[in-house]
Amino acid sequence: MVEPILKLKKIEKSFPGKSGAFTLFSDLECDLLHGKSYAMTGESGAGKSTLLHIASGLEKPTKGSISIMGSDFWSLSKEQKYNLRVNETAIIFQQMNLIPCITARENIEFQARLNQKFDSKLIDNLIGDLGIKDILKEFPENLSGGEQQRVSIARALAARPTILFADEPTGSLDESNSDIVIEMLSNLCKEYKTTLLLITHSLKIASHLDFLLELSHGKLNKK
Ligand SMILES: Nc1ncnc2c1ncn2[C@@H]1O[C@H](COP(=O)(O)OP(=O)(O)OP(=O)(O)O)[C@@H](O)[C@H]1O
Ligand SMILES: [Mg+2]
Repeated sequence: MVEPILKLKKIEKSFPGKSGAFTLFSDLECDLLHGKSYAMTGESGAGKSTLLHIASGLEKPTKGSISIMGSDFWSLSKEQKYNLRVNETAIIFQQMNLIPCITARENIEFQARLNQKFDSKLIDNLIGDLGIKDILKEFPENLSGGEQQRVSIARALAARPTILFADEPTGSLDESNSDIVIEMLSNLCKEYKTTLLLITHSLKIASHLDFLLELSHGKLNKK
């Protein structure tokens, strides 16, 4: 049997509230296989971003465990966690999260330089395919939402992650640009055998990927 590259076991996330704790989901299980792509859908507020942050090791679950590439993530040392995040994973955030004090090009190259997978040919191709050649010297605050989103996609792909987490990566793009970018993203993930977990509200986008996961009422259903 093939060991999943990412394994979520009995995951619970609760938040303290004025009238007691509020549980977003509990006993949630999910296995992602190497090189496969997964679309996650669900209503606004269902907990998709929270689950993606938990799956990527950014946020600690209230209960349960996450295994990334065979390592029980929250049992690792601080340094091991950092190495696993920077070397093997990348995230395209719903709110972009570009580094404000460096240019678009420096943002794109940032993680690839940190994890020593810097490949100038790949970066040039990404810049060309995403149509962001003319904005490389700009700082994030001077870019539109769609431009920031394309820079953040380039940054994640330039890092050549083993697992890519993408939170509505084309939410700020028009439909035709979104189609082009999603096709590019899924082709590159296939080429590099990257596992992709992508949140989207679009069933059309979801249809490009291998599996559909629906988060609803605290349960994750595989379709
Ligand atoms: N740190 C927090 N403290 C309290 N509640 C939180 C916290 N983070 C998230 N929530 C709540 O958890 C719920 C799920 O939020 P989340 O952002 O994961 O939803 P989502 O499915 O990504 O929604 P959207 O499609 O709108 O992006 C929301 O009701 C939100 O208010
Ligand atoms: Mg969200």
